[in-house]
Amino acid sequence: MSRLFAPTRVGAFTAHTSTWVPAMVPWRSTEEGDATPEVVDWYGRFADGRPGVLVVEATGIRDVPSGPLLRIGHDRFVPGLRRLTDEVRARSNGETRVLIQLIDFLRIRRRPDKAVYLGRFLSIEDRHREAVGLDRGAEDAAVRAALAALPHEELLAALSTREVEDLEFGARERVWDTHLEHIAELPRTLPGLFADAAERAVAAGFDGVELHFAHAYTMASFLSARNVREDGYGGDLEGRVRLPLEVLAAVRERVGPHVTVGCRMLGEEVIGGGTTLDEAAWFARRFAEAGMDFISISKGGKFEDAKQPRVGAAAYPYTGESGHECMPTVRIGDPGPFGRNLPLSAAVRRAVREVTDAVPVVGCGGLGTFREAEAALAEGTCDLVAAARQSLADPDWWRKMQLGRGDEVRRCIYTNYCEGLDQKHKEVTCQLWDRPDPGEGAPPPHAGSLRSSDGKRQLLAPRWDA
Ligand SMILES: Cc1cc2nc3c(=O)[nH]c(=O)nc-3n(C[C@H](O)[C@H](O)[C@H](O)COP(=O)(O)O)c2cc1C
Ligand code: SF4
Repeated sequence: MSRLFAPTRVGAFTAHTSTWVPAMVPWRSTEEGDATPEVVDWYGRFADGRPGVLVVEATGIRDVPSGPLLRIGHDRFVPGLRRLTDEVRARSNGETRVLIQLIDFLRIRRRPDKAVYLGRFLSIEDRHREAVGLDRGAEDAAVRAALAALPHEELLAALSTREVEDLEFGARERVWDTHLEHIAELPRTLPGLFADAAERAVAAGFDGVELHFAHAYTMASFLSARNVREDGYGGDLEGRVRLPLEVLAAVRERVGPHVTVGCRMLGEEVIGGGTTLDEAAWFARRFAEAGMDFISISKGGKFEDAKQPRVGAAAYPYTGESGHECMPTVRIGDPGPFGRNLPLSAAVRRAVREVTDAVPVVGCGGLGTFREAEAALAEGTCDLVAAARQSLADPDWWRKMQLGRGDEVRRCIYTNYCEGLDQKHKEVTCQLWDRPDPGEGAPPPHAGSLRSSDGKRQLLAPRWDA
């Protein structure tokens, strides 16, 4: 039997194959964060391909409005999520194990209009008065007007680094903004919020949870080498890993030993002064020792190198180099996108194996063929193979390979049309769903007539009958 289709133990369950669909936000929830029928269909469609593990998108653990992102911050979300897990079980013939990715994120504002920023948001200090040649008694309004009259370069020179960023990119909270009470309190609030969310996940029928410790969000920021908190939750490696370990302990205590609890984390941040692979391997070893059931490795996806958004839009953490490394395209430099991030999971796996054989490592990034997947497992670069965009392009691809019908796989072309939709918070679809399959003259048969809200795109992958 191929390694890819061999079972693998993942904490409390055994995945029937070593295949994995990682989290992908499809923008199909309501503004209230509910699992709509479209959300349920989206996961049902992945379940048709019967992956070993299917991870539901980054799901907010707080009960606060967060646009059409799925949420699990209150018990009222449980029935909708239960429909989702029931659908996955029914459509995969009970074979696919389903996890939910639990996320916390800090506030990020849209890039403001310059006049609005200078007129309202900027808090005026004496250094601003000095910069525009006004004396200390000058009214705020006079300082605002003088700043607004400056040529742009001079204005930037009159502002602090953080103010320049607030103006040019939109204000963004950091985990080391401990002058803000709710941020100082994160070590007190987050373990309970993650534990509550995990308990709801179990009530909704999930086989476990994936703690989102990756990319641009709160927990990854605690792990980041840029984290300069001085309260014991930042600075050196022990300080940076402290809250993630406390979150894990709180979740484990709440759900017990018979529910799988793993995390997604970065093998490398890919930003100046960011976390290196050696540090990531050290974190992973600590997680494994502390009872993490799996470690899924991603790369980059940070705000620090994001492109400047247009006025009125928010920065998107997948626009800079770190973002490109996170979802590599065919335009990326050597050695190309295919299996590009496997050296990270390989190094993490080696580190984890020093302390335990029981914690599988999930590899991801540009994996889209049987040969690549099988080689990744044979070479020991990971224990389970995750494919996001290839599974989006063709959710049935796992079954097609398993049935020896690989020539029918609709192949992802890795140019990130889907990611462009994610960036605009539009319903995510694959550009290939609206094209004829290769070698065929007619458009593919579609699963129902569901179309995106702009009416232009199929909302689901074309149907395939085995
Ligand atoms: C549309 C889209 C949404 C994504 N949403 C998430 C997410 O919610 N959480 C996460 O950890 N990764 C997310 N990712 C990243 C993928 O899980 C994966 O790490 C990345 O696409 C690289 O894998 P691939 O080359 O197999 O696509 C998303 C990717 C895409 C394309
Ligand atoms: S839209 Fe493009 S990159 Fe995204 S899954 Fe489809 S083919 Fe792949």
